Amino acid sequence: MNKKIEKELKFPDGFLWGVATSAHQVEGNNYNDWSEWEKAGKAKNESGIACDYWNRYEKDHNLLQELGVNSFRLSIEWARIEPKEGVFSEEVVKHYREILQDLKNRNIKTQVTFWWWTSPIWFQKKYGFHKKDSVKIFARYVEKITQELGDLIDIFTVLNEPMVPLGQGFLGGVFPPGFRNPYKFWRAVNNLAAAYRESYRIIHKIKPEARVGITYLYNWYESEGFGFLLKIINKIAQWYRIDLLGNKIKGFQDYIGVDYYRLGKIKFDRKNIKMDSGNQIYFGFTIEEDENNVMRWITYPEGIYNVLKEASAKFKLPIYITENGMPARKGLEDDDRIKFIRRHLFFVHKAISEDIDVRGYNFWSLMDNFEWLYGYEPKFGLIEIDRKTLERKPRKSFYEYAKICLSNKSR
Ligand code: BGC
Repeated sequence: MNKKIEKELKFPDGFLWGVATSAHQVEGNNYNDWSEWEKAGKAKNESGIACDYWNRYEKDHNLLQELGVNSFRLSIEWARIEPKEGVFSEEVVKHYREILQDLKNRNIKTQVTFWWWTSPIWFQKKYGFHKKDSVKIFARYVEKITQELGDLIDIFTVLNEPMVPLGQGFLGGVFPPGFRNPYKFWRAVNNLAAAYRESYRIIHKIKPEARVGITYLYNWYESEGFGFLLKIINKIAQWYRIDLLGNKIKGFQDYIGVDYYRLGKIKFDRKNIKMDSGNQIYFGFTIEEDENNVMRWITYPEGIYNVLKEASAKFKLPIYITENGMPARKGLEDDDRIKFIRRHLFFVHKAISEDIDVRGYNFWSLMDNFEWLYGYEPKFGLIEIDRKTLERKPRKSFYEYAKICLSNKSR
């Protein structure tokens, strides 16, 4: 009995327990640059109806309540809100108001992301982030949502992991707009940073007390062998992922959103002198893989502690763990997900006990959803979705995570 109590890890009062989803991955029937990309056969599946969250949100919010979360991270689909350049759909705005209001009625805090990798087709055709005018076009969209929905938003996350679509879309060519062009990449990085700074000003003007920031894909990198050279490569990887954009938005963030998934173990492989952005092999420098993992990611719970320490020292701002999760399928099952959550929370708790200001944790994801290039194969959800009927089936991990959220304790 005593032993059990000793092992319980209590989290601070007011800690935000949540789950995350994104519009394109769950809403269904979105028409944007990504749906075009899917139609062109560049992802494993088309997202199609996804989880039909757009119509079934009330039922999904019932499940959120059962899960006991006090916070929910979701995103707004720009292409729905502004289907034609400069024309905003009042009907869609109203629908998002209903979704957010429904969460509020249930006492669930809202963490809302404005750009989660997808853009309207008209924007992609005429502008794209490599063009300067994208800054004012994006800022106008942000102003509109903040005016219309800002009163229902607790945490504003303007951009989700911007370096992922910038790298994959402007250097790797595997995300829309499909460029492999360092010059366009460079321009897009600067424009997106400018668009973000402008958004930060706009949101604070409309809602001075707002908490505004972005999320970073903050995986932990280590290198093996080759000593000094690999250390440099490791530093470059970190600079690219965090500092390249982070330095351009210094002073414009109220918190840091940390998305942590895995260990990136960089090694040199003589036989692999090629560039493959799917597997991240760059001229022989490659990232070790876990064959059991459908995305080939290496699970490394200690890494979350390392990145929390690093982010706290670097930015000196409150931190929200905006995403953490594991893709399952054969070989890696739901029981592994339960272990995954507990092991990661152990290290989150360790960081908090060392005075790192972590305010919340979101599990990715509430339910199985559309995983970009990988389509519907990876299963990230606490809830299984029957792809034929869209029936929601909570997994064992759902109930285990519920115990944590409801008691504010892990073990
Ligand atoms: C992204 C999500 C994605 C998840 C799993 C995160 O980097 O924000 O959209 O589904 O990783 O790959």
